[in-house]
Amino acid sequence: MKLLPNTLAALAILLPGAAPALAQRFVPNYDESKVPPYTLPDPLVCADGTPVTTPKLWRTKRRGEILELFRRYMYGRSPAPPKQLRFRVLEQSDQALGGRAVRKQVRIFFGPKDKPALDLLLYIPKSKQPVPAFLGLNFWGNHAVFPDPAIRLPESWMRPGPGVVNNRASEETRGGAASRWQVELILSRGYALATAYYGDIDPDYHDGFQNGVHGLLDPPGARPPDAWGAISAWAWGLSRALDYLEREPLVDARRVAVMGHSRLGKTALWAGAQDERFALVISNNSGCGGAALSRRRFGETLWRINTAFPHWFCENFKKYNNREDQLPLDQHMLIALIAPRPCYVASAQEDRWADPRGEFLAVKHAAPVYRLLLGPGVFPAEEMPPVNRPVMGVLGYHIRTGKHDVTRYDWEQYLRFADRWLQKKAPR
Ligand code: GCU
Repeated sequence: MKLLPNTLAALAILLPGAAPALAQRFVPNYDESKVPPYTLPDPLVCADGTPVTTPKLWRTKRRGEILELFRRYMYGRSPAPPKQLRFRVLEQSDQALGGRAVRKQVRIFFGPKDKPALDLLLYIPKSKQPVPAFLGLNFWGNHAVFPDPAIRLPESWMRPGPGVVNNRASEETRGGAASRWQVELILSRGYALATAYYGDIDPDYHDGFQNGVHGLLDPPGARPPDAWGAISAWAWGLSRALDYLEREPLVDARRVAVMGHSRLGKTALWAGAQDERFALVISNNSGCGGAALSRRRFGETLWRINTAFPHWFCENFKKYNNREDQLPLDQHMLIALIAPRPCYVASAQEDRWADPRGEFLAVKHAAPVYRLLLGPGVFPAEEMPPVNRPVMGVLGYHIRTGKHDVTRYDWEQYLRFADRWLQKKAPR
C-alpha cells in the first residue's frame, strides 16, 4: 500500500506520547497579528558583549559559544564517535535501476554489541568519478524509499502506522514513501542517495533513554539536564553514516548534502550545524525546534513539542516552555552555525503548524553571519517570496503550495541548489 501524505500527516500528529487530550488542550495560534513582539539574540555579539566584526572572531569565539548554547539548552550533548566503528556490507549489486546504478546495503555497528546498528542503503549512479551524495534518514524503513524487492526490511522497532505489524515493518510498505525520495530523479542528475531508518539509531518513543544508542553509550547514573535527546542521537547517527561514506570509494564524501523532513529536518540542521564535514544542509518543513523561530509561537510551540515529545530535546529545554523570550538562542542561530556552507530551507503553504514565515525569518536573520564570512549576495530576499518562487544564494528558501510533505518539486529545487554548490567547490 502507499503511505498517503494525509495518513502520514495525521499519524505524525498522533504519535506515542501525543495523547489526544493534549491535542485538544492546545490551540495553536495561526493569526499573524497575534504573534507577540520579540527581540532575537544577535548571533554577531559575543556573550561578553564584543561585536563580531571579523570572520576570525566568528570562527575562534562566537561560533563555539552558540554551539555550546544549543548543546546545553536545547538538543543536549552528544558523545564522541565510538572508537571502533565497524562496517559490514550486507548486500551489493551493480544491476540496480536496470544496470544504471550500484546498490549497497551496509551495516554500521556502533559498539562491541551487535545492536543497535544502522543499515545504510545506497544507490550510486555509475560514474568514472566519485559522485556527490544526498544523505537523509527515513521514517518508515529503507524498503519504503523505493519499490526494489532487494531492499532489506528494517529489524528495529517501528511506530504504529499503515502496514506496521507488531511494531515491525512489513512487505506492505515497500516503496510506500517513494514519492518522498525521488530515487530515479536524484540518480539521473548524477547524485548518489544514502538513507537509513531513523529508528535503527533510536526508537521514537519515550522509554527513559534505555534503548537505541542512548542505552549503548550513556554512562550509568542520573542523566544530566544537558544529556542528549533523540534528535541529537539521530544527528549523531547521520555523522556515523558520513564516517562510512568517507570510506566509500564510489562517493565523494566532501560533497555530501544532509537532508531531512519534519523531525528529521530538525535533525539534519543539527547534524549539519555540529559536523562541518557536511558540505550542504537541507531542511524540509522542519518547523518548531528546526528552522522556525521559537519566539513567534506560531503553530507548534515549545510547550507543545516538549509535552508531546518529551524525549526529543534535553531536559533543560523544558525550562523554556512558555518562556521563549528567556531562551539564550533562537533558530536563526542554528542556521548561522552552518555558515559559510550552503543551507536551504523549504516550507509548505498548508503546513502552518511548522510556521513557514518563521522558517523564512530564521534564514533571513542567519544571513548577516553568512555576509560577514562571504560578503554580499548570500541571500537574495528581504521579504518572504511568493509560493513556488524559490530564492537561491548560499542560503536558499522556498514555500511551495501543498501540505506537510516532501515532493518532487522540493527535490527539483534541492537538485538545482546542489548543482550550484556541489558541482563546484562549496564554501566551507
Ligand atoms: C509532529 C511534530 C512536529 C514534527 C512532525 C513530524 O507534527 O509536532 O514537530 O516536525 O510531527 O516529524 O512529522
